[in-house]
Amino acid sequence: MTTMTTTTATSPVLEASGVTMRFGGLTAVRSVDLTVNSGEIVGLIGPNGAGKTTFFNCLTGLYIPTEGKVSYKGTVLPPKPHLVTNAGIARTFQNIRLFANMTVLENVLVGRHTRTKEGLWSALLRGPGFRKAETASRERAMELLEFIGLSHKADHLARNLPYGEQRKLEIARALASDPGLLLLDEPTAGMNPQETRATEELVFAIRDQGIAVLVIEHDMRFIFNLCDRVACLVQGEKLVEGTSDVVQGDERVIAAYLGTPFEGAPGDEEVAEVEAAESGSGAQSTTSKEGSAQ
Ligand SMILES: Nc1ncnc2c1ncn2[C@@H]1O[C@H](COP(=O)(O)OP(=O)(O)O)[C@@H](O)[C@H]1O
Ligand SMILES: [Mg+2]
Repeated sequence: MTTMTTTTATSPVLEASGVTMRFGGLTAVRSVDLTVNSGEIVGLIGPNGAGKTTFFNCLTGLYIPTEGKVSYKGTVLPPKPHLVTNAGIARTFQNIRLFANMTVLENVLVGRHTRTKEGLWSALLRGPGFRKAETASRERAMELLEFIGLSHKADHLARNLPYGEQRKLEIARALASDPGLLLLDEPTAGMNPQETRATEELVFAIRDQGIAVLVIEHDMRFIFNLCDRVACLVQGEKLVEGTSDVVQGDERVIAAYLGTPFEGAPGDEEVAEVEAAESGSGAQSTTSKEGSAQ
């Protein structure tokens, strides 16, 4: 790794090794290894059905992997969602899961719940401990709403927010559990370019607060701008992993992911020659192709 501006040593936050998930005869995830280090934003890409969400579900205890193991900061995670959240991993979902009839603030407070020590009796009796914890939770929730730019809508019902803001609110709710690792499943799906740019900035800001991020996205510009490292899943297997530059230029990724011919692909020259011949122009086809602007 290159030297970063920070002097903090990086250490693994998430270590998944040999994670396999089978559904009957279908192997949705096959022996995937992935590490996310502190201070990193890691991308997970791959065509639809590649197993990205299933892999997330294995990391967060929603699924018990058929094989493999998942550790968070050196401790193996039990496959139970609430224990994974307690340990410090938060996530958002590919399909928005908000409480539509709760306010924006209440939705964040729900995410805060795992971090409040006050028990049921304290809440029912509304003793001083409860009130203190409640005040602290509200303050933290409002802070998070400010962070994502939604504090002015704290009292609005979640269902009345525009789509892009609902996605942001999901992120705030995930952050409310004070995670050390945030998993985002297609956070910009359905967003316009401005909202996507804003989400990019938001993810950078989250990373700058010391939270490692693993993000699934289809928007390649978003991914390659954002991520220190990118892994590409194809049919459940990790095909390639590397820096954005390396993965961006990898022929297998381009072929598998985009499924389209690319600049400089084998056969490109032949195609160009055939097209030139058919158009009847380039009678004397040579290899001189310099200067073509991109
Ligand atoms: N609960 C499930 N039961 C059976 N098959 C599933 C289940 N969840 C996912 N799959 C299958 O696993 C494969 C990977 O799906 P998914 O992880 O959603 O892909 P991605 O998120 O990369 O688009 C797909 O073939 C999907 O149909
Ligand atoms: Mg998915």
